[in-house]
Amino acid sequence: MSFGSYPTTRPRRNRQDGFTRRLVAEHRLSTDDLIWPIFFTEGTAQETEVASMPGVRRVSLDRLEAHVAPAAKLGIPALALFPVTPVDQRDAEGTQSGNPDNLMCRAARLLKSAFPDIGLIGDVALDPYTDHGHDGLLRGDVIVNDESVAVLVRQSLNQAEAGIDILAPSDMMDGRIGAIRQALDAHGHADVRLMSYAAKYASAFYGPFRDALGSGGFLKGDKKTYQMDPANSDEALREVALDLAEGADMVMVKPGMPYLDIIRRVRERFAVPTFAYQVSGEYAMIMAAANNGWIDRDRAMMESLLAFKRAGCDGILTYFALDAARQLQAR
Ligand code: PBG
Repeated sequence: MSFGSYPTTRPRRNRQDGFTRRLVAEHRLSTDDLIWPIFFTEGTAQETEVASMPGVRRVSLDRLEAHVAPAAKLGIPALALFPVTPVDQRDAEGTQSGNPDNLMCRAARLLKSAFPDIGLIGDVALDPYTDHGHDGLLRGDVIVNDESVAVLVRQSLNQAEAGIDILAPSDMMDGRIGAIRQALDAHGHADVRLMSYAAKYASAFYGPFRDALGSGGFLKGDKKTYQMDPANSDEALREVALDLAEGADMVMVKPGMPYLDIIRRVRERFAVPTFAYQVSGEYAMIMAAANNGWIDRDRAMMESLLAFKRAGCDGILTYFALDAARQLQAR
């Protein structure tokens, strides 16, 4: 590429008015890019705001249909489902994850029948079901890999039976994508897709989510033996390569904004459907600053989401999904 130079070439010419800026815009956010993570609980007539995530609510199942209706109306393509398991049903082995009548499965059946056109993404990991808050099984001080994978496979089949369209393993155990793919295929679920949390970092930005799930308080230790070290970038490419080889249909990088460089590398190297999770802490930061009057919430929200598109994402899991879709509709 060769370009002219100033004063013949003046980059500001293309920025001088709205119509030119629109014509030359390289990236665009659309409602089709948005995935809305939702939290739900047992009980009736419950709607509680997550203190560290202003505007994000946990609703009981009887309120779920009404909660999701605006997303359906706005044309949001998919929801990411996160059950808040009652504390007295959590145990060391995450037993509830395999129960066909657990909160997740009941929510999936309810949403499938109420909104057949919305895609359902099921989180696969044990942390909503374990009393130690880890994503896998704890043996002594160790999160064991292969035994955890066996439980994750059972959890995956259970969710597929309940009508989940896309399984999203967020647990970071080795080999789980291949094991889940094989089990799905062997049990008549060849169409169920896998969106792998391929490069998921051991991050401080998940704090508010753990509040939402109620798993933060009793998390023993940290997740550094299975989630990635924020220092690493090449390793993310190896993780993505492995998950693709094992059968992932889509890959995810998480968290989002502090890891845009990883998204870009994954996109360029693999050119496969690539997603990012704008996690709870990222949401909380924008909301906290906005609620203090320090930044313009809507502009910061839209700019942060556009940044994911520019970095190379096909779509974004974001707690802003509803508000962003409303903004897009109003344009
Ligand atoms: C765990 C899981 C986490 C998130 C999604 N799935 C947290 C963790 O790894 O502790 C975080 C999402 C967010 O922070 O918004 N299976």
